[in-house]
Amino acid sequence: MSTRPRVAVFAGSFDPLTNGHVDVITRSVALFDRVIVAVLANTSKVPLFSADERVAIIRAAVAAWPSVSVDTFHGLLADYVAAVGAQTVVRGVRSAPEFAEESQMALMNKHLNPACETVFLASAPEHAHIASRLVREIATLGGDVSTLVPPAVADAFARRMRS
Ligand code: PNS
Repeated sequence: MSTRPRVAVFAGSFDPLTNGHVDVITRSVALFDRVIVAVLANTSKVPLFSADERVAIIRAAVAAWPSVSVDTFHGLLADYVAAVGAQTVVRGVRSAPEFAEESQMALMNKHLNPACETVFLASAPEHAHIASRLVREIATLGGDVSTLVPPAVADAFARRMRS
């Protein structure tokens, strides 16, 4: 039996991290020896939070799990997975239409890196309506997002609104 550690990459924009993302990380910790949360740094959209801010927020939110590390990546996810010696990409899936898109991405990542498998975790029902895009919109319009995001994100929005 192989003793190779099972390393998973949970990649995303995380602009910002939500309770749905934290749920996926929590469940991944139970499945893998190491989980790398990889923040896409070169997104085509201008992010609300810089890559450094997103990394700092995620580090604060995952501090309790020694098997979780936080990193940034540029370029292809399939290449990043190979570079860090991971075998698996983890994705949270909230709906059937999302699964259709995600399965295409999983197959493309496997085409680019045949050693890369994708594991889908079905969103917990209480998180299925949470999306970073909606959280950003609600927070920037003055709404309360404190039940949708971890405290580190709520604090970051509060600082943003004060400045
Ligand atoms: O949280 P998101 O925005 O849904 O995450 C999307 C992400 C970062 C996983 C995806 O955009 C990605 O992998 N980007 C890196 C570029 C890449 O590999 N593109 C080909 C995908 S098949």
